[in-house]
Amino acid sequence: MDVYGLIGRPVEHSLSPPMHEAGYEARSLDARYVTLEPDPDRINEAVAGADAIGVAGLNVTVPFKRDVLPHVDPTPTGEAVGAVNTITFGGDGAPEGHNTDVEGVVRAFEHHDVAIEGQSAVVVGAGGAGRAATYALADAGADTFVANRTLERAEALADDFSGLGVDAGGLAALEEHVPDADILVNATSVGMDDPDTSPVPADVLHEDLAVLDAVYSPLRTKLLRDADAAGAETVDGAWMLLFQGVAAFERWTGVDAPVAAMNEALRDRL
Ligand code: ATR
Repeated sequence: MDVYGLIGRPVEHSLSPPMHEAGYEARSLDARYVTLEPDPDRINEAVAGADAIGVAGLNVTVPFKRDVLPHVDPTPTGEAVGAVNTITFGGDGAPEGHNTDVEGVVRAFEHHDVAIEGQSAVVVGAGGAGRAATYALADAGADTFVANRTLERAEALADDFSGLGVDAGGLAALEEHVPDADILVNATSVGMDDPDTSPVPADVLHEDLAVLDAVYSPLRTKLLRDADAAGAETVDGAWMLLFQGVAAFERWTGVDAPVAAMNEALRDRL
């Protein structure tokens, strides 16, 4: 039996176990997926220990996505984003560290037939999720602008990705950039605690926009409801969660993921 897992704090309510286990079942794979909360001061030992006891793969979530970086061999994407959410063991050298959050953003748009290359994109938020979304869109060829409440954080992010031509501003810049954008991503936590708040003023949304909200609880955030009302295409946060999991599943097992079964398991619990 292959054992996969998720390390983070907290992970108790994670939707990854049912999503991945639905995938194993649909593909008749003898595998289990468990959640673990390692001691934050012992991440090196946690990764090395998982490797030593034959764990097949680990997902990594908050607050460890950056902490695991020195203990893995990151892919160029993991290195560029500065965070890893998927580790594969069993190779010759150090465990490999991937960032499938980036793939999750790209595949969520692909699944909705939203083109990225050559489009104009705005990302709101410059934390971990903002970094992954900004990198995903800019690397896939979108002209990308990142807006954040704390301007310095957006500027630092744009600086890190200057090779990809990312620009930055404060939230006030949304008024100027969203009306001309094709793609909008919310990568802040706004809308999670208070379902009647949105990080983007409703009056700048328009029908030529595709809007992805990384928040998936609630699923229909105020931003997505406003986007619907404006006639925009909406992509809820469960798609991003699904496709980062699909990408991890495929990397680990070498098998095409049963996307519909994993999606159903996820949405059943939202
Ligand atoms: P994550 O790793 O999930 O992205 P994070 O690093 O804590 O989490 O980042 C949270 C993001 O939500 C940041 O962009 C944060 O803006 P600041 O950098 O200014 O803190 C944004 N955010 C959180 N609460 C917000 C609010 N009430 N209004 C606007 N932005 C908010």
